[in-house]
Amino acid sequence: MLGVFDSGFGGLTVLKAIHDRLPTLSTIYLGDNARAPYGTRTHEEIFQFALEGVRELFARGCPLIIFACNTASAQALRQIQQTILPVEFPDRRVLGVIRPTAEEIVSLTKTRHIGVMATPATVQSKAYLREIADAAGTTSITITQIACPGIVEFIEAGYEQSAEADELVAEYTHDLIRHDPTIDAILLGCTHYPLVEPLFRKHLPPSVTIINQGKIIADKLADYLDRHSEILTRIEQTYRRVYLTTKQNENLSSLASTFYGSPIAFEQLTTKFHQA
Ligand code: DGL
Repeated sequence: MLGVFDSGFGGLTVLKAIHDRLPTLSTIYLGDNARAPYGTRTHEEIFQFALEGVRELFARGCPLIIFACNTASAQALRQIQQTILPVEFPDRRVLGVIRPTAEEIVSLTKTRHIGVMATPATVQSKAYLREIADAAGTTSITITQIACPGIVEFIEAGYEQSAEADELVAEYTHDLIRHDPTIDAILLGCTHYPLVEPLFRKHLPPSVTIINQGKIIADKLADYLDRHSEILTRIEQTYRRVYLTTKQNENLSSLASTFYGSPIAFEQLTTKFHQA
């Protein structure tokens, strides 16, 4: 099965796009809701938590895992790819969301001024600054990053439609436009943020395009699997869909179903992870 990992609900926005684009692929989603948010944690914590997720999904037989999480992609992916996979899992792969998104963004701005809204840990890693500059090559792109603490917390708690969440998004988007009024595109650089996209839309000038990662990642995954038949042949294509969480409770599946757009049922992961 294809493994998809996030700190919580956010990865469902990517998973949905993967299901739309590649419906036959069997998938197993792991949301670490018990320890979300990751975006205000240290590098060491994010690395350890993401690695536990990777080990769990590999133990369940996934040949490929997508980090449907910018924070884990920014803070843990490279280290896992360079130090863990070659030693412990040489025939498995973990891919992130930052590089594929950066490649796409470069073609979407006309003013060459863009905004990146992301978690504090993603902003602080400067991964988007590096990857966008690299993807842009000789052309220059001006990037304003805004760290948005608090939004993921509201979403994980099911308060994404509250007045407080609205105020927070208003504050961050106004900061962004005040800082650079020539921005014509913003990236929702956290997979949770598409779940409050209407709030971003409400507070941004209509001329600003909002870039949502789900479809970008699904398209890039389809390309990757076309080029890597040795991985594709090891992923069942039986439409099976498994949803695991580190924090089962009565509201979780109903909240997740709202976010995903159709009913899904989470199972409690029984493996013991480190405490938050
Ligand atoms: N959805 C994740 C991301 O894309 C993580 C958010 C968090 O846990 O803070 O960054």
